[in-house]
Amino acid sequence: MGRKLTIDYHPGPLLAIETSCDETSVAVLAGRTVLSNVVSSQAQLHAKWGGVVPEAAARAHVETIIPALREALQESGAGLSHIQALAVTNRPGLVGALSVGMTAAKALAFARDLPWIAIHHLEGHILSSLAQTPSNDFDVVFPHVAIVVSGGHTELVLVEAPMNYRIVAETLDDAAGEAFDKTARLLGLGYPGGEALQELGRLGDPHRYRMPKMLQNDPEHFSFSGLKTAVLRLVEKEGAELRKHDLAASVQEAIVQTLVDKSLMAAETLQVRALSLVGGVAANERLREVLKAECSRRDMALYTPEPALCTDNAAMIGIAGGIRLAAGERSSMDIDVIATAPLPENI
Ligand code: KG4
Ligand code: ZN
Repeated sequence: MGRKLTIDYHPGPLLAIETSCDETSVAVLAGRTVLSNVVSSQAQLHAKWGGVVPEAAARAHVETIIPALREALQESGAGLSHIQALAVTNRPGLVGALSVGMTAAKALAFARDLPWIAIHHLEGHILSSLAQTPSNDFDVVFPHVAIVVSGGHTELVLVEAPMNYRIVAETLDDAAGEAFDKTARLLGLGYPGGEALQELGRLGDPHRYRMPKMLQNDPEHFSFSGLKTAVLRLVEKEGAELRKHDLAASVQEAIVQTLVDKSLMAAETLQVRALSLVGGVAANERLREVLKAECSRRDMALYTPEPALCTDNAAMIGIAGGIRLAAGERSSMDIDVIATAPLPENI
């Protein structure tokens, strides 16, 4: 069934910052325990443009970072003078957005002469199942396959241990969340559209409309771009006859089936008996339901962290940072933010 590892964390209190896209988030952790995890979403701000506008995101982070820091410290019960270490996302992401969190972290590290570490955003998502909150306390085993599905990511990652990852499948075009968002947009559902599509399809027939096959026989790649073309054609062809509930249910089912099929295929090929489901799309009820049923049928473990730990948040960055700091890693003041970057090398 896999191994339980003894994982060392920086004892904390550790302050973590995440500003890679459109969420300003600050968390305080003690070991793997999340003392606070404040998330301020800019979704409403960007909704009027139908997507994230980088310049507006950076400005909103500037406005929100200090209030978020204050709130996270207050909620955690730790004062700024108690903080012993820092972790911050420095890659990949929108450079203007990343710079806001990075500058805040560097300023705090400099002022208090604290150890700090720059973290890869994807590593945060991958390790989010290790974060401990009152309603989230998994005994995670290794190896497991992390299913990372969000507006920016669709990756299956073999996690041998913290800091030891291998990407075993990724998308050739859109991310799973984008597939939800783009089809939702074609149905006039606003941005981001994943949850709205789920709600619209709740009473729909998931088999009413046939969706294109999505690289069914390629275990290493996802492709979602064909979906929006298919939806666009249907919207044009059916006109007033279009059954929106059925179309929403059909699109959701197609995305869910391809995610579940490839995840199970990866686990089987790698002979891994545990999966974790993380990233914003992990909030999808149908995805959770199907994956849960398939895992229990196979007697496999499934970790589905609470939604606040799945969408972009600083607690997951604190987990990754706490592990790397405990392993002796430190960042220096001359490192910068990076727009695109591979996952860190295995150690
Ligand atoms: O992780 P996240 O908050 O931000 C990114 O890093 O992208 O993920 C946001 C994505 C959006 O595409 C959104 O539509 C999708 O997650 N999402 C959902 C649901 N809730 C959020 N997709 C499907 N069903 C949901 N219930
Ligand atoms: Zn993310």
